[in-house]
Amino acid sequence: MYTSFMKKRSLRAARTAVAAIAAVSVALLCIIVAERVLSERTEPPAPPADAPYLNPDLPINVRVNDLLSYMTLEEKAGQMALVDKNSVHDDRDLATYGIGALLSGAGAKPSGDDTAMSWRDMVARFTDASRESRLKIPVLYGVDAAHGHANVPGATVFPHEIGLGAAGDPKLVRAVARATAAEMSATGIYWNFAPDLDQPRDIRWGRTYEAFSDDPELVSLLGAAYVRGLEEPVLGGASSTVNVLATAKHFVGVGSMAWGSSSNRDFKIDQGTTPPDEDALETEYLPAFREAVAAGVSSVMVGLNSWGDTKLAADRHLITDVLKGDLGFDGFVVSDWYGVYEIPGNDYSSAVTAINAGVDMVMLPFDYEPFVRNVVRAVEDGDIPEARIDDAVRRVLRAKFALGLFDGRTPGDGSVVGSKSNRALAREAVARSLVLLKNDRDTLPLRNVETIRVAGSAADNIGRQAGAWTVEWQGIDGNWLPGATSILEGIRERAGANVTVAYDKNGDFPTGDRADVGIAVVGEAPYAEGWGDNARPSLTNDDRAAIAKLRASCDEVVVIIVSGRPLLISDELSSWDALVAAWLPGSEGEGVADVLFGDEPFSGVLPVPWPDHEAQFSIAVDGSTADHTAVLFPRYFGLH
Ligand code: BGC
Repeated sequence: MYTSFMKKRSLRAARTAVAAIAAVSVALLCIIVAERVLSERTEPPAPPADAPYLNPDLPINVRVNDLLSYMTLEEKAGQMALVDKNSVHDDRDLATYGIGALLSGAGAKPSGDDTAMSWRDMVARFTDASRESRLKIPVLYGVDAAHGHANVPGATVFPHEIGLGAAGDPKLVRAVARATAAEMSATGIYWNFAPDLDQPRDIRWGRTYEAFSDDPELVSLLGAAYVRGLEEPVLGGASSTVNVLATAKHFVGVGSMAWGSSSNRDFKIDQGTTPPDEDALETEYLPAFREAVAAGVSSVMVGLNSWGDTKLAADRHLITDVLKGDLGFDGFVVSDWYGVYEIPGNDYSSAVTAINAGVDMVMLPFDYEPFVRNVVRAVEDGDIPEARIDDAVRRVLRAKFALGLFDGRTPGDGSVVGSKSNRALAREAVARSLVLLKNDRDTLPLRNVETIRVAGSAADNIGRQAGAWTVEWQGIDGNWLPGATSILEGIRERAGANVTVAYDKNGDFPTGDRADVGIAVVGEAPYAEGWGDNARPSLTNDDRAAIAKLRASCDEVVVIIVSGRPLLISDELSSWDALVAAWLPGSEGEGVADVLFGDEPFSGVLPVPWPDHEAQFSIAVDGSTADHTAVLFPRYFGLH
């Protein structure tokens, strides 16, 4: 018994000893593993000094794979973050978090002077800060150079896309995009959130002017030309270097949202719901993206709209199966401003959903630290496969290599910003974008005219003719833009010494004598996005009054509408002799005078149908209206 007791004791002691040894071993093992993990975290694989990714002669895919092999999960997550530059707390964060990209959203400009050179200095400062990181990965900088590098005072401001749609010439669009890219790269910015491939089916939408047209064919043609113009290598540069990354946006069905469906309570239609329609997807919404992909577009931005109940940034079928799969898009997918966090759920689950859906870079645009933490946690917890992260980062890095960012690319010649030749191109684009809608008495072009009276809210207002996305997100309603020419100035210059040009915004001219011609330049004040959603786009009472006064004091009246979309004018049209749609022409007002005086012909046509009355606001792609009545002017109408 004693023996058996002793045996049991010694057995227990032996067991205890074994258990103790095992526990110690496990603990030791844990410590070793933990140390390893920690050392892996704190001392990730260091690249050799001659790492292949630093060698510009190697193919991009080799460089990307090499770089990826040194990257920690945190570093990968950082590359997926797109941050508004005003949200960077400290420049050193660029290296600490390995932030992939920055943007100037909503008029975010350099502090201090706002000139092309201060933009260049600001971007250089951020780039240098990003290169302080372990792997020296340069940050990418993006802007909305939607109609020229128009964030920058002094840059050439081209007509907004709707005007280029009226001109309808892919060669012109490509040249405009090339000039825009040159002005951007002069400031060290190589990523443009353009072209816009939306198709506005309802002119009440505040982004109608950002699109070329509502016709999928025209949008496809001009969108691809724009992509080529931005991305084509600079003359004399390496043939493989992409000049400026283009962004085909907004994927997909944007422009077909229903009125009243917006998820943003301040808006009506912008950020609304696109009724899911597989036929329309195939025949109307996808073709322009297909063409952009064929033209080699580097990035695609998913919209803030929903496809039925699903926010686009959460739509795995559309992003991964359709865009990356069927269309074969191999660039990177970026989400739109805060769009990922509009996905129902919390910050963690929204990011997980978007990344799993196929978003490669998240326009956060604010809090990068929790984003990086969430992505790391999601991979560690198995909510996002690491292969998905690697795929996303590969796509982003490919674009950075293609731009030559790792190879010491330096900004282009600063004198190109607002240069004479770019302004001449913009002036030509303005002339070609004008659409003559009425000319009953052959009032235009102006010939044998001795006296002209000019009136209207947009005659001497460069901010109105430039529209939004010019220096400020919502534009500037006023006469400020260095180097620009107003429509009035253009008319004065061209009219010359033998023609008397008088101007009064309200049309208050001395009574008693009459002028040969009155020119009313009327239209809309600038607006961007949902702030421009408007239940009844039409002329203001002030502009109507100015036209009426010209009517009373001039033999003939020409109305020029400066606007981002057609306006309701059916009740007034009969009292005007001539009508011109000038869209949002930008900085070169002389382009309008060139056509008014017959130096250039009227050649533009309507890129969208012009409704006659309210029931026609929403017009189907085949031109049919809800009430089956004829529009005022059909798409592609224009007198020549
Ligand atoms: C717009 C995008 C734009 C982005 C960055 C968003 O509000 O929808 O078109 O590119 O802001 O400015």
